[in-house]
Order: sequence, then C-alpha cells, then structure tokens
Amino acid sequence: MSAERQGSLKGVDLIEEINRLREERNAVILAHYYQEPQIQDIADFVGDSLDLSRKAAETDAEVIAFCGVRFMAETAKILSPEKIVVLPDMDAGCSLEDSCPPDKFKAFREEHPDHIALTYINCSAAVKALSDIIVTSSSAEKILSQIPEEQKIIFAPDKHLGGYLARKTGRDMLLWPGVCIVHEAFSETELLKLMAKHPGAPVLAHPECPVAILDHADHVGSTSSILAKARETESDTVIVATEPHIMHQMEKALPGVNFIGAPGADGNCNCNICPYMALNTMEKLYTALRDLEPRIEIEESVRLEAKKSLDKMLAMASSTVGMGDIGAPRVTGD
Ligand code: 13P
Ligand code: SF4
Repeated sequence: MSAERQGSLKGVDLIEEINRLREERNAVILAHYYQEPQIQDIADFVGDSLDLSRKAAETDAEVIAFCGVRFMAETAKILSPEKIVVLPDMDAGCSLEDSCPPDKFKAFREEHPDHIALTYINCSAAVKALSDIIVTSSSAEKILSQIPEEQKIIFAPDKHLGGYLARKTGRDMLLWPGVCIVHEAFSETELLKLMAKHPGAPVLAHPECPVAILDHADHVGSTSSILAKARETESDTVIVATEPHIMHQMEKALPGVNFIGAPGADGNCNCNICPYMALNTMEKLYTALRDLEPRIEIEESVRLEAKKSLDKMLAMASSTVGMGDIGAPRVTGD
C-alpha cells in the first residue's frame, strides 16, 4: 500500500485533486454553512438543511460528497437512493440525533397515539421513519401553519426550536427534551456584556439557542435567513449567535462589517464550534472522493418510510396555499 493510502497526504495539492476527482467521478460537493471555510469555498453549493435536501433531491450527479453531518448525508441518500453518497467522516453526528434514540421515540409516540410527530431534520433515518412530517428551521413555521389547529403535535428532538415555535405561533406542542450542545453553550451574561460594548449592533440568532439568548435577538432564523439578514445590515457591527463558521460567508459578502460571534461562558466562542462538523476536513473530502468511502447506506424499508416524512416536508415547504394533506398520525405499534 502506498504512503498516501496509509494516510499521509504529503505532496498532494488538495484543491487540484478534489477538483480533478469531482470531474472524474461526476460528483457534486454539497456543504453546510458550519463547515470550515476551505470546504465552503470548494463546494458546488453551500446552504442550510432545507436547501441542501432540495439540491440532493434534484442533482443529476452520480456521486454526492456531503460536507455536513451524518443526518444531512442520510437525507441525501433517502431522497436520492441511486446515488453514491459519501460523508468525509462517518463520526460526524449531532447531539440532537443522539438525544432521540428510535426505540425511546417509538415508545413516546405510542403513549400519545392521537399526536402527529413533527420532527426536526436533525435526527436519524430511523426516527424520520417513525415521524409524520420532517421540518427544518427554515420550513418549520410554514409547515406548522398548514396543520389544523385541533391536531395535537409532538415536536422532537430540539426543545429550544420547539419552544420557539410554540411561543411564536401559540401552538401547544409536546416537546422532546433534546438540545444542540453548540447553541446551548452561548452565555446570556456574556452576550449582554458584548451588547453593552457594541450598542446598536443587531443580534442574529438560530432558533436552536435557548430562550434566554433568543430574547435578546433582533432576528431569529435558519442559517440561510441569518445570512440573508446579515447581508442587508446597515450596521458596522453584527453579533451572530450560531456556529461561527457561517461568518465566512458574511465576511465575504460584507468585508467592511465587523461580525462577532456570540460568546460562551468563558467569554470567547471556541466552545460554539460544532465538534461534529469539524470532523470533516479537506483531506477527508479528498479521500472520500478518491475511495468513494465512507458511504451512506440505509436499509431499504427504513429509507422508504423516512422518505414519506421527508417528501411531506418538501411538499409543504413549497406549498403556496391552504392546509397541507397531513394524513393521520403514523401508526408506530406494528
Ligand atoms: P439550518 O437548517 O438552519 O442550516 O440548521 C441546521 C443545523 O441545525 C445545523 O446544526
Ligand atoms: Fe447538531 Fe448542533 Fe452540530 Fe448542528 S450545530 S450539527 S444541531 S450539534
């Protein structure tokens, strides 16, 4: 085996090789905003969870190299099963996914048979297969507005996003107690100090943040909506309460603006780098394209069930009028 195959990539021009392999493999590189800047820059498309799902469903490439976390790459495979989907590091998980094991979720659903399960996309394929409708942070409100008022709802697994939606829409939902460890780490005390230092600087926050942070935000939304809001700012300083790698896009768009990441309890924001997203590197992206490994595989029966709840999300997120056809709550006991 060559030194390169054993893991030493000395002498490899990663940008050149990734570009060559992308052509050779007929691959598309999709990246989330929380990936390191070099990965964002080499990707064919950078987006939020909903944008990336749509791209994965539409692409005619033969290979999808997914630079994000595992639930995102699984979503791509569920929607495009004929494609090879590689994830640079298969350990790129998510604390929200970990908080919601399928057996416990199934038992919870069985305790509440009259509730539909509206489930955040940050969950495993098995949990998607047990859910009625998937949502992302950018589509949740629109999808919720299409569910009849009298319909009882379980919202899983992010209690902060669920709580935010409940406060905003007045819908009473049963919340699964999961959290994102990254957004949970922001400190209200430190944020207030930063706001005092930069009076008038708008605070843009992701709804995965706890309510104590969201209460100080001028804008709450998905990564793509935070980015859109930042692009239209007239302020010379903007405080960003989400994973700090998104600031790469902001700094590229508005080089004259000072974007500051909201701090964690120790006063700096290193604790807000997503440790799962950070597992993907340019080196691993290169080897994933070279070896077409590690590959996402999903058992077909799980994939087909998970696809139903994802298809509902895609339809309801694009719907222009009226109530969505939500159907009856999924029967989980069989
Ligand atoms: P967005 O859909 O807002 O990009 O959020 C995705 C996410 O949770 C990554 O942590
Ligand atoms: Fe999961 Fe939070 Fe990382 Fe997003 S930022 S992938 S929700 S742990």
